[in-house]
Amino acid sequence: MRNPIFSFISSSLFMPVLLFLAISFSLTSSTSVHRDRFLRRGSALSVDDPDDVLSSPNGAFFAGFHPVGRNAYSFAVWFSNRSCMLDCIVWMANRDKPVNGKHSKLILDKHGNLFLTDAGHKVVWSTDIALSSSATYVGLHLLDSGNLILRSFGPRPVDDTVMWQSFDHPTNTLHPEQKFTRFTELVSSRARGNISSGYYKFYFDNDNILRLLYSGPEISSVYWPHPYQLPWDYGRTTYNDSRVALLDSLGNFTSSDDWKFLASDYGEKIPRRLTLDFDGNVRLYSLSRNGEWTISWQAITTPCDVHGICGPNAVCLYNARSGRSCSYAPGYERKNLSDWSQGCKPKFESFCKLPDPETGEFIRFPHLDFYGYDEDHYPNYTLNQCKKKCLELCNCKGFQYKFRDSNRHDCYPKVLLLNGRASATGYGTIYFRLPKAILSSEQLQLESSTLNCSHSPKDVELHRVYSRRHESELLLKILLILAVVIAGFEALGVLLVLCFVTGTWKAKDEARQGYHLAAMGFRRYTYAELRKATRNFREEIGRGAVGSVYRAILLGDRSAAVKRLNEMTLHGEEEFLAEVSTIGKLNHMNLLELWGYCAEGKHRLLVYEYMEHGSLAENLAKGTLDWGKRFDVAVEAARGLAYLHEECLEWVLHCDVKPQNILLDLNYKPKVADFGLSKLLNRGDVKHSSFSKIRGTRGYMAPEWVYNLSITSKVDVYSYGIVLLEMVTGRSPGGGVLDTSTGGETENLGLTSWVKQKMSGEVPTATRIEEIVDHSIEGGYDVKKVEVLVAVALQCVADDKDDRPTMSQVVEMLHCCTNEAEI
Ligand SMILES: *[C@@H]1O[C@H](CO)[C@@H](O)[C@H](O)[C@H]1NC(C)=O
Ligand SMILES: *[C@@H]1O[C@H](CO)[C@@H](O)[C@H](O)[C@H]1NC(C)=O
Ligand SMILES: *[C@@H]1O[C@H](CO)[C@@H](O)[C@H](O)[C@H]1NC(C)=O
Ligand SMILES: *[C@@H]1O[C@H](CO)[C@@H](O)[C@H](O)[C@H]1NC(C)=O
Ligand SMILES: *[C@@H]1O[C@H](CO)[C@@H](O)[C@H](O)[C@H]1NC(C)=O
Ligand SMILES: *[C@@H]1O[C@H](CO)[C@@H](O)[C@H](O)[C@H]1NC(C)=O
Ligand SMILES: *[C@@H]1O[C@H](CO)[C@@H](O)[C@H](O)[C@H]1NC(C)=O
Repeated sequence: MRNPIFSFISSSLFMPVLLFLAISFSLTSSTSVHRDRFLRRGSALSVDDPDDVLSSPNGAFFAGFHPVGRNAYSFAVWFSNRSCMLDCIVWMANRDKPVNGKHSKLILDKHGNLFLTDAGHKVVWSTDIALSSSATYVGLHLLDSGNLILRSFGPRPVDDTVMWQSFDHPTNTLHPEQKFTRFTELVSSRARGNISSGYYKFYFDNDNILRLLYSGPEISSVYWPHPYQLPWDYGRTTYNDSRVALLDSLGNFTSSDDWKFLASDYGEKIPRRLTLDFDGNVRLYSLSRNGEWTISWQAITTPCDVHGICGPNAVCLYNARSGRSCSYAPGYERKNLSDWSQGCKPKFESFCKLPDPETGEFIRFPHLDFYGYDEDHYPNYTLNQCKKKCLELCNCKGFQYKFRDSNRHDCYPKVLLLNGRASATGYGTIYFRLPKAILSSEQLQLESSTLNCSHSPKDVELHRVYSRRHESELLLKILLILAVVIAGFEALGVLLVLCFVTGTWKAKDEARQGYHLAAMGFRRYTYAELRKATRNFREEIGRGAVGSVYRAILLGDRSAAVKRLNEMTLHGEEEFLAEVSTIGKLNHMNLLELWGYCAEGKHRLLVYEYMEHGSLAENLAKGTLDWGKRFDVAVEAARGLAYLHEECLEWVLHCDVKPQNILLDLNYKPKVADFGLSKLLNRGDVKHSSFSKIRGTRGYMAPEWVYNLSITSKVDVYSYGIVLLEMVTGRSPGGGVLDTSTGGETENLGLTSWVKQKMSGEVPTATRIEEIVDHSIEGGYDVKKVEVLVAVALQCVADDKDDRPTMSQVVEMLHCCTNEAEI
């Protein structure tokens, strides 16, 4: 054996594994042989007999004892497909008190009381419902919907009642047509592979709003909807106090607080479940034809927004390729190496205990955010004032310093560092307060720039909520659970165990994350389906070098845009699928969402969400955008690009940023389109910098293309700068501009040089701005905003790529003037 762990495990585990494989085999081979469709008064289901399960008439659900750990069983309702392990469990009676694998029973006694006994003695769960004296029949039935009901019949029809039903007591899953009310809540599992109650809750709050709450051992906080905003800002109402929500069988979720959503595969009557997952996210799953659960909606698209992931003094990082991870704050170290949720502790003594508490130095981290726990809010503070304020408070751990407008910053001293997250598209900078001695020690050097994913592996560890008492004990437990649950796949199971022991657990974990994202709202379409949806490609709404775009109506009356790629330029099917699934994983509110694709024969099509207001180019031409909208478009498009470049996906360069590729939705919110296509088309490989052909569009291309210099994300920054200039001046960059402001004389200058020339005069700024802005727009403009736009644009179009800011710096610079709610 190469691996010492393996030899240890194999010697100590061989027997139990065999034993459990044997048990699991007997379990699977018997699930189809259920003894009864219902449980009568005076009888019981026993854990000892694997045949003792109830099944729903349609065979979709089973109720019985389900293994949840070593010699631990829960009385549960599960989807018939056992191969999905614990994920298939949709309801549990004794979630936190598993019973023994011997002599435990679910008993329906003659008084109509249903109860669960552990090893023949202790009652761990019961319904405690008194039976009406007139009842002549009592029975436990599992319905086709997955509802387990205890019903009684009497001599008259009015005596027929449902005494108890599992739909009134959900655990972490809601079924279609199951009412979610003020009396119910969903509670997440503790961890992957551990179905006992975890720390996340989905519930109707006292103000009638549906919320997600992290309720940890020490702290608790609401993280969805966004806690910084008020209910009406995200379209909710607090006035309807009926507090009911319902998912219908077609995938339409509606709640009395006005919150609603449609599944991405809305319209099909297929098995669905809404589950609060162990990672704090609510997801809607659909059972696809190949028996897999795919995600058709999820509440949170930026996983680090969930609270309580990394514990105090730690930062959550997210990377679409490897998922969520935690990193300690500089100057802090892990509290418990086996449990990230306990966070980090300082490597130094509290300032409050020092003889001179007003000491400490600061280290700067941009793009970081810690939620809440501000000592106070100090508007219009200089950096030095803010530092001074923090030093005066002995319990100040550092402060957040946020841009408000071009010469004003706000200061938020933090007394606790909780729910930390890094985001290239976020704004604000954190200054950590540390003793001088720690600051000068060398380990801090690597953390002194932006927190990015190039950190050495020892800093970043995958988040696992479960606590590991002992490495080998955990392995042992998981092995056993695996062995029990992957019933029917014994041979495969042994393989899995092998892989697991030899260390591929982490990789699998990451792959699953990828799977979740890839599956999110993403599916394969047939060519016939898309031809029908586009009415044989009748309505063309756009055309580019890559292909034409058609309007389509999908199932459930959803509008979509179908892009048909030119045949000549394409990869084979496998590469196409690989690239498409990569694009499908990119998920940001300012990126056009890819809903699916079609790869059939020579046809390659992409299905995108439909944008009601068309492209920025059209809107600039029509003059439909006032200054407010233009500014918002600038900020949000920058966020989309920053996400592409910097949320650890540096390799996604757009390479063709232009107004035609920025689309506007119903509310004129912009989404960047056509990203990732450079990889889809057979035009060269970014990694090997063999961009032999010049790409992009004339007028928007950075000088690097022309001079054959290395291509970095700064080419997009350049193009973005040109787009900004175009939005401000209303002039197109193509070729020259006709300068009419100088008395009708024609000057054939590039747009950039023209703006530079105009802005460099001796005249006051307001006058210079007045000369360059687009006068065709109705309504006045805010000189300051335009000034910022022009200043940012000119930085972006610097000839030397190193002089251009990054997209996240652009976001930060522009953030000054947005009207968003501040923390
Ligand atoms: C699940 O987690 C809980 C709480 O940490 C723990 O008590 C329980 O033993 C775990 N169960 C399994 C099967 O690991
Ligand atoms: C979803 O359900 C709500 C409430 O029943 C209804 O008003 C709405 O029209 C439905 N949406 C669709 C697309 O069917
Ligand atoms: C409250 O919400 C419920 C369920 O969505 C709806 O039936 C009811 O009409 C609403 N009540 C009011 C006053 O809007
Ligand atoms: C169970 O799932 C597997 C794949 O996960 C699938 O092949 C099988 O057909 C499914 N069985 C049923 C009964 O749905
Ligand atoms: C911010 O403070 C500076 C000096 O402290 C002052 O000159 C400026 O007017 C203030 N700005 C606002 C908007 O209050
Ligand atoms: C990420 O960090 C590494 C060093 O840790 C640095 O070389 C690289 O430029 C950083 N990337 C970004 C996008 O900041
Ligand atoms: C780490 O956490 C686990 C469980 O939460 C606990 O059993 C263990 O004692 C902790 N270790 C230390 C060093 O505190």
